Amino acid sequence: MLGNFSYSNPTKLFFGDKSLDYLHKELKNYGPTVLLTYGGGSIKKNGIYDAVTKILREEGKCIVELSGVMPNPTVEKLYEGAKMARENNVDLILAVGGGSTIDYAKGVSCSAWCEEDPWEKYYTRMEEASCKVIPVGAILTMVGTGSEMNGGSVITNHKLGLKVGKVFGSYAFPKFAILNPEFTFTVPQYQMVAGFFDIMSHIMEQYFSDADDNTSDYIAEGLMKSLIHSSRIAVKNPKDYEARSNIMWTSTWALNTLISKGKTTDWEVHMIGQAMGAITDATHGMTLAAVSIPYYRHVMEGGIAKFARFATNVWDIERSGKSERELADEGLKALESWMQEIGLVTRSSELGVTEENIPAIADGTFLLDGGYKQLTREEVIEILKESL
Ligand code: NZQ
Ligand code: ZN
Repeated sequence: MLGNFSYSNPTKLFFGDKSLDYLHKELKNYGPTVLLTYGGGSIKKNGIYDAVTKILREEGKCIVELSGVMPNPTVEKLYEGAKMARENNVDLILAVGGGSTIDYAKGVSCSAWCEEDPWEKYYTRMEEASCKVIPVGAILTMVGTGSEMNGGSVITNHKLGLKVGKVFGSYAFPKFAILNPEFTFTVPQYQMVAGFFDIMSHIMEQYFSDADDNTSDYIAEGLMKSLIHSSRIAVKNPKDYEARSNIMWTSTWALNTLISKGKTTDWEVHMIGQAMGAITDATHGMTLAAVSIPYYRHVMEGGIAKFARFATNVWDIERSGKSERELADEGLKALESWMQEIGLVTRSSELGVTEENIPAIADGTFLLDGGYKQLTREEVIEILKESL
C-alpha cells in the first residue's frame, strides 16, 4: 500500500544549454554579497568560473571567494566556510561544482549563524537548524548526487573516521539550481562513471525495499532504463548532449525525494560506502560500486520478487520458464556486466581497501532497517571481505 505522505520541493530548476542566463534574474532576489564557493579549480580551466563571475559583476555583486572544497568535504573546511560566511555577512552562497561543493554550501548555510558546534548539532545529533540559514544557489558541473535539489549534506570527519550525511529540511534545499549539461562535458571519465553509478545506487536504494507494486517503483524502473541507455552512449562519447542531458535530468529525479514517497527505503549500500569513504577518501560512486553486488547477493532472498521484477522490467530479461530466484540472479548479473561495461570499479581493493581496514569500516557503518535484511556488524564484515 502506498503510505501517507506530503510532497513539495522548493528548488527552482533552470535546465539546458542556455540555463546560465537565468542567473541574472535570480541574483536580483538576493542582497549584494555573494559567497562564491567551488572546488579544486576545474571551473577555472573550463571557463565556467569566468562565465559566472562575469554575471555576478554585471549584477553589481560583491564576490567573496571560498575555494578548495575537496571531494568528500571535511569538517575543518566546514568551520572555515562558516566563519567566512558570518564575517562577511553574506546574502547568498553560490555553489559551483558537483555534490561536494553543493553539500558543503548547504552545511555552511546552516552553520554560519549557528551558536553551537555544527558537527555536533547537525552531523551527530541530526538536529534541524534553529538559526538564520543563508540561501544557497547551485550551478551544477558534475552529476550524480542529486544535491542540486535535495537537503543532503555529507561531511567527513577524518579524526573520528566518520563520513556522515545530514539531510536538512526544505529550508536548506538550494533555492535555485542551474543545470547545463554542457558544463559536465569536462568531467574526467572516472568521475563521470562514478556519478552514473551513484545515480543507479540512489534509485536502487529506494527501489529495493518494500514489496509494494507502487507508482514510485515504476518511476524508478523508467529512470534506471533511461540511465542505462544513456550511460552506454556517454561512455563512448562524453560530449553527446542528448545522453548527458538525459543523465543529468535522471540524476536530479533519482534523489529529490520523489521516488521514495509512500514507501520504505534501504540506504545500507550508502552506509557501507560512506564508511569506506571515511577511511580511504575514495570517490563516492566507486565505493558504492565496490560493495553493491556482494550486498545485493547477501540480501536478495528477503526481496526475491522485487529482484526478479528488476531483471524483467529493468534489464528486459525473458521471464518464461524461470523461477524468481533464477531471474533475480540474472538481474544482478546484468547489473554487474553493465558496471564492467561502463568501466566501474567492482572491487574495494581497487580503492585501496585492505583486510586490515575492514573492522574500522564496519565500525563506521550505520546499520539501518529499511532493506530486505537488517545487517549485523559481522555481516558487514562478510560483505566487505567479499568486496575485496
Ligand atoms: O574540485 P574540482 O576541481 O571542481 O573537481 C571536481 C572533483 O575533483 C571534479 N569536477 C566536477 N565538475 C567538473 C569536474 N572536473 C572537470 N569538469 C567539471 N565540470 O570532479 C571531482 C568530484 O567532484 P565531487 O563534487 O566530489 O563529486 P560528486 O558530485 O560525486 O560529489 C560527491 C560528494 O557528494 C556526497 C558524497 O558523499 C560526496 O561527499 N553525496 C551527496 C548526496 C546528497 N547531497 O544527497 C548524496 C550522495 O549519495 C552522496 O553521498
Ligand atoms: Zn550517493
